[in-house]
Amino acid sequence: MSFETDFLIIGSGIAGLTFALKASTKGKVTIVTKKRKKESSTNYAQGGIATVLSPLDSFENHVKDTLDAGAGLCDKKAVDFIVKNGPEVIEELINLGVNFTKEKNSGNYDLGREGGHSHSRVIHSQDFTGKEIERALISACNSNSNIKILENHLAFDLLTDYHLHGAKEFDKNNITCYGAYVWDSKNSVVKIFRAKFIILASGGMGKVYLHTTNPEIATGDGVAIAYRAGAKVANLEFMQFHPTSLYAPNHPTFLISEAVRGFGGILKTADGKTFMEKYSPTQKSLAPRDIVARAIDAELKKRGDEFVYLDVTHLPKDETKRTFPNIYKKCKELLNLDFTKEKIPVVPSAHYQCGGIITNLKGETNIKRLYACGEVACTGLHGANRLASNSLLEALVLSKAIYQELETKNLAVFNCPTFPEWSEEGTTSGEELVLISHNIKEIKTLMWDYVGIVRSNLKLERAQKRIKLIKKEVKDFYNKTKLSSELLEVRNLIACADLIVRCAKMRTESRGLNFNIDFPNQNEKIEDSVLWRFDAPSTLE
Ligand code: FAD
Ligand code: SIN
Repeated sequence: MSFETDFLIIGSGIAGLTFALKASTKGKVTIVTKKRKKESSTNYAQGGIATVLSPLDSFENHVKDTLDAGAGLCDKKAVDFIVKNGPEVIEELINLGVNFTKEKNSGNYDLGREGGHSHSRVIHSQDFTGKEIERALISACNSNSNIKILENHLAFDLLTDYHLHGAKEFDKNNITCYGAYVWDSKNSVVKIFRAKFIILASGGMGKVYLHTTNPEIATGDGVAIAYRAGAKVANLEFMQFHPTSLYAPNHPTFLISEAVRGFGGILKTADGKTFMEKYSPTQKSLAPRDIVARAIDAELKKRGDEFVYLDVTHLPKDETKRTFPNIYKKCKELLNLDFTKEKIPVVPSAHYQCGGIITNLKGETNIKRLYACGEVACTGLHGANRLASNSLLEALVLSKAIYQELETKNLAVFNCPTFPEWSEEGTTSGEELVLISHNIKEIKTLMWDYVGIVRSNLKLERAQKRIKLIKKEVKDFYNKTKLSSELLEVRNLIACADLIVRCAKMRTESRGLNFNIDFPNQNEKIEDSVLWRFDAPSTLE
């Protein structure tokens, strides 16, 4: 089964949907999304979008805060570009009908404060900003006749010249993407989608870790499929651990927004004592995430505790409840805890992938006709540590930039060659799914234990040895077993785990989110850790 479209978008989060609405003015848009339309990290975003809207703030302040958080590795041009385009893309969301929270008295938009920000600049919809954005974007896409959204469609490999001509004529420096192989999980069939332009907007890879704030969809598919096709990726060692997810064993992880600390919440150990002054004397509980997550990790290890507390009991009760209704409800539901009376138990969890597919500020990758935006991309904005609430902003600005780049192209000159149908020859459905679920558990546990908040050379070596074994098992399984979403996802999870560890091993220093006890200092030379499969040692491929 083969389908043709002008723009193929992989993913229906903020990046994919925003681009779709713009591209629909120029041609036919097909969005493939692997679960329900709204299932995305976007849908769970809480704090909001960082942008300069207050007269007390400035672009210079936002740029400086972003560069400071990024620990020397941000690309200043990317930071300038994204920060300066912020107010305009927020205006577009407002025009689309997104309801951001306003201050009671002035009627101005309420601007929250989060870690690492010198000013209040986070525009939000109470504490469910992402849900409100997804609602507005999906509703606009649903009523647009040029946009088709296909749910339960999982893209698992990109179509390139390699599939057309084979290895012999393949030139790794001149690759073009023509579409994707997509698994229709409802009908258990592989479909070929051919397109003039392909936009990867498939989000992050938090699910590589045992504990994560990310939803089920975040299995790193975009980075894995792009890397397999020959895209360059970078900085994958910089997995951001959010300092405060609710400690509620046996329940899916739930985020306690950084905006709660911005509102005055204070971190304390189990004996009720504050500790952040030891790690960040000036910013304390509102220091950037890498510092807070490491501080919590150190206190937990030192004291043998399972969690620390986030205390908001000293804050005005009604106002705190009104500002964080979603968090209040979840604490009640999961722990029967009233946060106006009791402290909230919290732990760090994997949250955001700062690295990704390398793109320029037009969203272009090193593969022709393949663009990437949102969490899957590495534009240079985040460097070694993302500043809170900068990622929704980046997704909005870059999806618009891609559209502006493609707006002037003459679609008629881009061909969509035909590709052979997917063949299942030689595969069987006899294998037990427990083999996959066991591999998934192994990957998550080893990444949490060996490639977590604090790393060492020994832990990375151990991780790499085990990853090599699992990679081989998954590859063998993939070659002889009929497709399923689980199989396709474990293939991507192990590919991402491998890439994270290889990036972490390249970084012989501690910078931002990559903390290695064997290299406690920063190198003088500041470098991205770039991986390209054509440079990789064959033992790991
Ligand atoms: P996503 O929103 O994750 O969308 C990815 C889409 O791709 C999904 O539709 C998914 O189903 C689809 N997909 C994935 N793989 C495939 C495949 N193989 N085939 C087809 N479809 C696929 N950032 C902020 O700036 N502010 C915040 O307040 C904030 N809060 C957050 C709270 C939580 C709990 C989490 C998890 C993240 C938060 N972040 C926040 C980060 C931010 O939400 C994400 O980085 C951002 O939403 C990513 O948007 P995206 O469009 O790139 O990806
Ligand atoms: C949060 O609300 O703490 C998440 C913000 C973010 O990840 O940017």
